[in-house]
Amino acid sequence: MCGIVGYIGGGNVYDVLIKGLHRLEYRGYDSAGIALVNPSGTLNVYKAMGKVSNLENFCKDKNLDALAGIAHTRWATHGEPSDCNAHPHYSEDGNLALVHNGTIENYKLLKDALTQHGCRFHSETDTEVLVQLIEYIKVKNNCSLLDAVREALKQVVGAYAIAVVEKDHPNRIIAARKSSPLVIGIGDDEMFLASDATPFVEYTKECVYLKDEEVAIIERGEPLKLVTLENKEAKIDVTTLELSISQLEKGGYPHFMLKEIFEQTTTLKDCIRGRVVNGGKRIIISGVDDNKEKFLAAKRIVIVACGTSWHAALLGKYLIQDMCRIPVEVEYASEFRYSNPVLDDKDIVMAISQSGETADTLAAIKIAKRMGAFVYGISNVVGSSIPRETDSGTYIHVGPEIGVASTKAFTGQVMVLTMLAAAIAQLRGTMTQEQITEIGKAIQKVPSLVEKVLRLNEKIERLSLIYTYAHNFLYLGRGYSYPVALEGALKLKEISYIHAEGYPAAEMKHGPIALIDEEMPSVIIAPNDHLYEKIVNNVQQVKARSGSIIAIVTEGDTTIRNIADHVLEVPEVPEALSPIVTSIPLQLLSYYIAINKGKNVDMPRNLAKSVTVE
Ligand code: F6R
Repeated sequence: MCGIVGYIGGGNVYDVLIKGLHRLEYRGYDSAGIALVNPSGTLNVYKAMGKVSNLENFCKDKNLDALAGIAHTRWATHGEPSDCNAHPHYSEDGNLALVHNGTIENYKLLKDALTQHGCRFHSETDTEVLVQLIEYIKVKNNCSLLDAVREALKQVVGAYAIAVVEKDHPNRIIAARKSSPLVIGIGDDEMFLASDATPFVEYTKECVYLKDEEVAIIERGEPLKLVTLENKEAKIDVTTLELSISQLEKGGYPHFMLKEIFEQTTTLKDCIRGRVVNGGKRIIISGVDDNKEKFLAAKRIVIVACGTSWHAALLGKYLIQDMCRIPVEVEYASEFRYSNPVLDDKDIVMAISQSGETADTLAAIKIAKRMGAFVYGISNVVGSSIPRETDSGTYIHVGPEIGVASTKAFTGQVMVLTMLAAAIAQLRGTMTQEQITEIGKAIQKVPSLVEKVLRLNEKIERLSLIYTYAHNFLYLGRGYSYPVALEGALKLKEISYIHAEGYPAAEMKHGPIALIDEEMPSVIIAPNDHLYEKIVNNVQQVKARSGSIIAIVTEGDTTIRNIADHVLEVPEVPEALSPIVTSIPLQLLSYYIAINKGKNVDMPRNLAKSVTVE
């Protein structure tokens, strides 16, 4: 949600910032803006509605000379997308410019107070309140920008990652964070700041992740300095990035989404590497053996997540209950946090998040910790907030996911949950060694089976043409295929804007079956598992009402082939691993339908990759 980038150094400030904004555009693309502090002491702010390319066009004939600068790509929260609401925002006297990611919850109160002091506001944003407040404090207390920022942030309720530049100090940027990510890249006589490391990975691998309520003083020719809101010096922990530039490019694919779908053979290999050992006999996931007593004593596991990660969480429930015999509850993090949850130190709360920054998931973790639960995180982005807030956890290791619609992160999450469930089962003795070895060996085969699934690409592209203009879709599945149905429906909705509903196949007869006619296609996920005979009945029920059916079946299936209009065959795998092979054809189907409709699959309307606001 909103991307921030900043740069100070000898390079071309404008070029670094624009390139950085393009990298962060997945976080929001309602408008973009840039503030450049000129060597002659002027502060130029340029903004444009829509994508970063619009800003570039707007800047073509402008003065782009700068010693330092900050920039922003916006996902609108307060105030509609417009030039005026775009960041950076100026202070009243035009001395300061500020970019912000997050939400200032008490902005109305602050705005009223500042208005009474004579401040005038030009936008509807909460951000403008912050820059005006900083200026007000700076003038009133006749203090430095650093002190004014610290004092202002003490008055703020909410989440923020901010960067501020000052006309009279063109060699300095002040930045701070609370509950919204901010990372500082340390180069050779240059420094960067950004919402994640992608804007500066080609310039430096050394970075510092800011902690909550830390303020950074980024000054040309000076080492980085961090202080707390109380002005106490904070420790600087430098991390070396394991990120390569090729991971951030499309690599010949027309879209990141397609690249990421096709990457799944490799990403699943990376995800499994070093975790299934001794010929499949042992499965090791970090945080399990180190916290043996927690996993042995656990009476219940509660998994919190949002969106696609919530669908993975639902699969986690089936996997953990089946393999470990521990009761599992799955909660939307946004509901959990306000549900007055009942938790104690015998509970394990697992948080699943690709970005590691989702605001609701972060808030859920904080509540769970406060209540004494042991909190375990599963994330993709190394160094993000969720892994830092949890007691323990692991990464899915699928590399940066840039397409807004999650694909490789979903299969990575499901794979990690499968291995995690097996590792806990091994610890608790709820699976025999034979069963562990069987699942371990099957896990090792998954990447090559995924390669086979991806050969369905052309067939799915052709099939998509038949269904592009359907107005509604049903996605049906049972058992392990039910969360896959939910995920398939979400993928179609978010990138093609076709209404799609995921449903447990057997529940259909309690209502949704009324919707079925020749205009309502059903995608039925029906691999050869213990519910196969049951889902065959559901397939027949849809056909009996003239519904058109695309079925995802196991290779060699003959029964459903004779009923469904189209079948997509996936390789045979143990039931626990079927979601990985059945979800990939659904990713491709939604991709091609959206492409046929001319939609921007990498940047679907109204969405952003990382939801750092409530
Ligand atoms: C859908 C999608 C979203 C995310 C959700 C949670 O394709 O990407 O539904 O899954 O916003 O994000 P993370 O996993 O980063 O917490």
